[in-house]
Amino acid sequence: MNAKLPIGIIGLGRMGQVYARHLAAMPEAEIVAVSDIAADHLEKFAAEIGAKRWSTDYHSVIEDREVKAVFVVSPTSTHAEIVTAAASSGKAIFCEKPIALTLGETDRIIATLEKTGAMLQVGFMRRFDAGYVKARQQIEAGVIGNPTTFKAIGRDPFCPDLNYARPEVSGGLILDMAIHDFDLARWLMGTEVRRVYTEGGVLAFPELETVGDIDNAVVNILFENGAIGNVEVSRNALYGYDIRTEVLGSEGGLNIGRYRETPLLTMTRQGIHHDMVPYLHERFGQAYLNQTRDFIQRVIDDREPAVDVYDARATLVIGLAATRSYHQARPVELSEYPALKR
Ligand code: NAI
Repeated sequence: MNAKLPIGIIGLGRMGQVYARHLAAMPEAEIVAVSDIAADHLEKFAAEIGAKRWSTDYHSVIEDREVKAVFVVSPTSTHAEIVTAAASSGKAIFCEKPIALTLGETDRIIATLEKTGAMLQVGFMRRFDAGYVKARQQIEAGVIGNPTTFKAIGRDPFCPDLNYARPEVSGGLILDMAIHDFDLARWLMGTEVRRVYTEGGVLAFPELETVGDIDNAVVNILFENGAIGNVEVSRNALYGYDIRTEVLGSEGGLNIGRYRETPLLTMTRQGIHHDMVPYLHERFGQAYLNQTRDFIQRVIDDREPAVDVYDARATLVIGLAATRSYHQARPVELSEYPALKR
């Protein structure tokens, strides 16, 4: 296919702008229509990325006959409605994580996709990061033997805007942040999660209490095959963006992630110092780009998504169980959640 793939983007906030700029620079894609409910900068930004049409109503993107693929990058609480509408129209969809806040909504999305045959890829960009890609290749090649233990740290350098953090909007700390680690847990360990047990609390930012969220959580995991794991998420890594993952196997281990942004150590009488990865754009900028390219190429080639709706569902169940475990102060079996009816 020589023509450019016509794209629509819904949501032009922090992440939507990242995808928009990548797409605007991509020879295989053309941004046709964009939407954001915040009208203030919409026209200016649409012009900057070369979008032909813009609107404060997302339906206009979905109903746009020219658009073949839609990027859904609006707040998480809006995903289910928008993705269901996009799936009904048969357009290809890229949706940021999570695709819905409930299992019922996810199953409705699945039913719609299965009916219309629309393709949906979920935004788990760590699967497109060089470190995680190599780790998975090495696990598959048997370099560390059988994976026995999964450990993940996901720490943000600041407390998000309270409107973003509200659990009705974001799903709460665990669904919003640890969902990336739960996706990695399934992907790297090669097995499903059987049980989770969460401890958490408001330990650094009392303002989160006003919206009903927490800022720190630790989730212990038992996998179906008996392997074990642990995920820690935090909003108060004031020193930087700290994303690290470890997989221990019967023959060795893998350590994925880094502290240092610039490859420089400054050595003085005071000691040895280096900088720190500031935030997600520095750490995962290339992964967002790789993920965008991958999705576009799959749509052009009419191939299956790299991360599909069933991955999204399985990961959501882990997040819901881990959140329930925190609220009910008990281990939660994933079998408490209904399996997908097929
Ligand atoms: P944001 O709040 O910065 O941007 C959301 C944008 O969507 C805003 O401009 C808002 O006006 C717009 N919007 C709200 N309702 C809308 C509607 N009905 N139609 C069209 N536009 C609408 O949020 P952010 O940080 O960009 O997050 C968006 C999504 O990306 C969330 O689902 C979040 O979980 C995900 N995300 C993923 C990350 C990753 O590393 N994969 C990192 C940060 C966010």
